Amino acid sequence: ELMRELKGIDVMELELKHKLGIKKVIIVPGDSDESLLVKGELGKASATCMKKLLTGENIIAVTGGSTMAAIAERLTPELSKKELLFVPARGGVGEDVANQANTICSNMAKNTNSKHRVFYVPDQVSSQIYQSLIKEPEIHEVLKLIKSASMVIHGIGDAITMAERRKTNPEIQQKLESGKAVGEAFGYYFNESGEIVHKVSTIGLQREDLATIPNVIAVAGGSSKAKAIKAYLKQAPSATILITDEGAAKRLLKG
Ligand code: G3H
Repeated sequence: ELMRELKGIDVMELELKHKLGIKKVIIVPGDSDESLLVKGELGKASATCMKKLLTGENIIAVTGGSTMAAIAERLTPELSKKELLFVPARGGVGEDVANQANTICSNMAKNTNSKHRVFYVPDQVSSQIYQSLIKEPEIHEVLKLIKSASMVIHGIGDAITMAERRKTNPEIQQKLESGKAVGEAFGYYFNESGEIVHKVSTIGLQREDLATIPNVIAVAGGSSKAKAIKAYLKQAPSATILITDEGAAKRLLKG
């Protein structure tokens, strides 16, 4: 708390909220690019924020990434005073197992003594396979849960970093480059104006679904992600809560 006061973080939070035009901004001290510990702080802040927003029964849709993985580590059984069900927001978007939404949901459920669902769908599906997949009772049920989520918690990534990490094929990488993609969130790649340059075609949460989900929490830190955060939030729902760090926040306030 003293650290926050000294650094004027409360003031930065308000300034950034107005600048980005979103519901709320929470900033943790430090820069995730410089210290691994800061991601843990993002996790802790996310846990606190989630706790405040929980109601009687909660369906929480979760995306992948190392930031989401860090949040899972910081969730505690204290949250399960409310009923929680964690569901992966989208099918595979090419992440390694540790960074996959399925793994993260399972850890979140374990650490809060609550439930989770798995959602195993291939990364890329033809429309023919898609049509038959969504008729599978198991998949159909998870899709219904995702669409009725009371909360979505997701990461935001730098577009090129994410494309490389996901071993995206050269053709798509070319598309991202020529489309000047700078940010990525739940499998959508955005340019500086927040327009979609490319979308990983997988089943689950679609961008338009966010409008009807009461609580949307975006968690991303590190000064290297400032551009991506700015781009994504250009056309994100105004009800979004951003949890970030000082490194990203300072750059966002400057730009
Ligand atoms: O969609 C965004 C990425 O999942 C962010 O990944 O948290 O590992 O940077 P990260």
